[in-house]
Amino acid sequence: MHNSSRRGFMGKAFGAVAGVGAVGSLVAMKKTWDPLPSVKAAGFTTLDMSIYPEGKLITEKWRGKPIFILRKTKEMIDSQTESQATRDIVVAGIHYMIAIGLCTHLGCIPAYIPAEKEFHCACHGGQFDWSGQVTKTPPPRGLDIPPFKIEGNKMILGEVGPEFQAMKDSGVTL
Ligand code: FES
Repeated sequence: MHNSSRRGFMGKAFGAVAGVGAVGSLVAMKKTWDPLPSVKAAGFTTLDMSIYPEGKLITEKWRGKPIFILRKTKEMIDSQTESQATRDIVVAGIHYMIAIGLCTHLGCIPAYIPAEKEFHCACHGGQFDWSGQVTKTPPPRGLDIPPFKIEGNKMILGEVGPEFQAMKDSGVTL
């Protein structure tokens, strides 16, 4: 009787210590997963723009949103219209289409169709060209361009640089 109550007490004590240890480990693990406070507070994402292959859509992430990055081919640059060219973002002499990868109708993620050089939205049939301009409704406008700042070969998403400001002022970004 005495022994069993002692075992019961030991068991509870051990369980309590183990429980505290487990909570401590979870807190430590969560700290490891979380972004650094400065990164989180600022909400910036820095991209090395020299790594993107020509003509291939790469999707990055910024503030939980997909960011489409398409390094334009020479053929695209040579054949695009003036209004398509106004959406070009040029970093170190290279032309890119960069846009938030959410359909401006109701927010689905459009798929890039390389053979047609177009984005197709499966939700309601909206389409965008390779520069992100809308070519088939219901989307009310082209793909939105996130705020960015260019520094050499790097692009900082979330910061407003002069190139973004100029695009915004001319109504291109939204
Ligand atoms: S959400 Fe893309 S067409 Fe409706």
